[in-house]
Amino acid sequence: MKRGFVVLLLLVVIALQVLRNEFLRTELVAQEPKGAVETAAVSSVADVNAQTPQGRDGYVGREVCRECHVENYDLHRMHGHAHTFALASDEKVVSKFDGRVFDYGEPYGQYEYEQGEDGLSVRISGGSNDSFPLQYALGSGDHAITLLSLAKDAEKGTVAYEHRGSWFSDRDRLGRTPGQPLKLPESEWQRFGMKHVDNVMQKCIYCHTTTGTVVDQTIVDLKANVNCEKCHGPGEEHVRQARAMKEPPPFSVGSSKWDSESEIQLCGDCHRLPEAITLKELREYPDKLARFQPVGLLRSQCFIESEGALRCTTCHNPHQTISDMSETEHIANCIECHQPEKSAHVSCPVSTTEGCIQCHMPKYDFESLGTGFHDHWIRVHPEG
Ligand code: HEC
Ligand code: HEC
Ligand code: HEC
Ligand code: HEC
Ligand code: HEC
Ligand code: HEC
Ligand code: HEC
Repeated sequence: MKRGFVVLLLLVVIALQVLRNEFLRTELVAQEPKGAVETAAVSSVADVNAQTPQGRDGYVGREVCRECHVENYDLHRMHGHAHTFALASDEKVVSKFDGRVFDYGEPYGQYEYEQGEDGLSVRISGGSNDSFPLQYALGSGDHAITLLSLAKDAEKGTVAYEHRGSWFSDRDRLGRTPGQPLKLPESEWQRFGMKHVDNVMQKCIYCHTTTGTVVDQTIVDLKANVNCEKCHGPGEEHVRQARAMKEPPPFSVGSSKWDSESEIQLCGDCHRLPEAITLKELREYPDKLARFQPVGLLRSQCFIESEGALRCTTCHNPHQTISDMSETEHIANCIECHQPEKSAHVSCPVSTTEGCIQCHMPKYDFESLGTGFHDHWIRVHPEG
């Protein structure tokens, strides 16, 4: 009993020591005047894009594509892809956090958000009076928005803090950021966010933008959101050709190299391929893998047995948001291949006209993520 107490005391002392050292070693650059000016001068991501000299790297921006592909432009505009990255000072983000309070619980505390002259920031009530600047907002907010700040760490160089609190669209609430373990913060700044370094930090930006690389606490070449040229590649040459001739040469998806493998690679680059999953998880296939659609699809008989005929865009228009698609349209996709007598493939002994998705691609809800995902391993589930 007594020994237990001594050990506990020792652990607390060590933890405090670690905390203090980390605190001294880590300095938030955005608090320095230069950083603050840089963030404050830009009021929207559109401004950031406007500051990038167009065409320098072959990218022209989606407004240029609109000139000739207005239909795809209008669809894409409504898609989560087109809204998945913003500055935290963006009105859409500020309105969800400013003036609100969120209690993370021990050992973290209660967060208070405030939009001030230097942008959005958070402080812990009752804690040290430091406020922590919030710089970037990831996620369209269709389900969630998570905040991210870049900082300088004496040991690791530039690091990213993924803020502990996120906004969720269900019930317009603040809640705990998914995937963050509830353990003792190792430094004062880690009370505000989980620290990411190197590739994990870069990939976080990579998946939510068209281009952008973290260098010295800022994102250079930032082109926010998953726009046309993220999937199709830089468009400068295509635009030049299309302006010069009626029928421009094949581009991107029109090239002979484009097949269903390249498409699954493209979507899987962000929606995850099997290589992003541990072998153990692949073997056991827990429900949470439903989040990674390409992983499921690749093991479906529909994919394996249809010799390249099935890909993401068989069922999804890549430009159209999922919320614009009706269940009837989804069922029509299944029936295309599984119509009794008419199609070359087997048909269902239970139902040939309805309910395919609920039975063969059930949705698993992940409350912590503020959403659910449909299992893309299309199959007969034991429960029917
Ligand atoms: C550069 C990374 C990236 C690539 C490549 C990508 N996605 Fe996404 N996708 C995302 C992100 C990030 C979101 C979350 C958007 C948000 O914040 O709502 C998303 C969301 C979605 C959604 C749900 C949101 C909605 O409005 O419908 C669908 C469906 C989707 N992607 C399909 C695809 C398909 C199909 C492909 C391949 C043609 C693809 N994605 C390629 C990153 C990517
Ligand atoms: C490998 C690519 C990838 C990385 C890395 C990644 N994301 Fe995402 N993110 C996605 C995709 C794809 C989605 C859409 C559905 C899903 O899988 O949750 C998404 C969805 C989200 C959403 C929910 C958007 C909505 O409203 O539906 C948030 C918030 C988010 N990501 C934040 C982050 C943050 C913060 C990081 C870095 C710490 C990060 N993501 C790293 C690909 C990625
Ligand atoms: C998430 C990736 C992704 C994004 C973002 C995206 N596309 Fe596409 N796009 C594709 C894929 C994949 C195909 C091929 C679809 C197929 O084979 O059915 C395609 C096909 C096309 C086509 C030829 C077929 C058609 O629909 O006319 C055009 C033109 C096109 N995209 C333009 C655009 C423009 C313009 C934007 C931006 C406003 C854009 N795309 C954004 C993935 C994307
Ligand atoms: C000046 C007009 C013009 C502009 C600007 C333009 N395109 Fe095109 N694009 C065309 C024409 C014409 C075609 C060929 C006919 C068709 O598929 O519509 C085409 C075809 C495509 C295709 C299908 C390729 C194929 O070979 O099947 C894609 C993908 C595409 N464009 C994407 C883009 C993207 C992304 C942008 C912006 C970076 C863009 N286009 C800007 C005129 C234009
Ligand atoms: C491009 C064609 C294609 C599409 C689209 C398609 N499937 Fe399939 N599906 C197949 C093929 C091929 C098989 C293997 C059996 C066969 O050869 O008929 C299969 C097998 C299945 C099986 C049996 C799986 C097993 O493991 O035994 C189910 C269940 C199924 N599909 C449901 C669906 C549902 C539900 C949809 C719509 C969400 C769908 N399929 C869309 C081609 C397709
Ligand atoms: C056989 C048809 C089919 C194919 C192929 C398919 N999907 Fe889906 N997908 C669906 C259906 C059905 C839904 C649920 C739609 C809804 O809820 O409205 C869905 C939903 C999604 C969502 C929204 C989140 C979720 O899981 O509910 C994303 C993201 C997505 N698919 C990505 C992909 C990607 C990436 C690929 C290619 C690897 C792909 N899908 C291939 C039928 C398909
Ligand atoms: C109420 C649940 C339910 C609904 C709704 C349903 N299925 Fe099924 N499906 C099953 C079950 C259970 C089996 C396995 C039956 C067996 O093996 O006797 C099955 C088998 C299949 C098979 C494999 C048949 C074979 O011979 O291997 C395909 C393909 C299929 N379903 C497609 C579909 C499609 C497409 C739809 C929508 C039009 C659909 N199912 C709707 C429950 C359902």
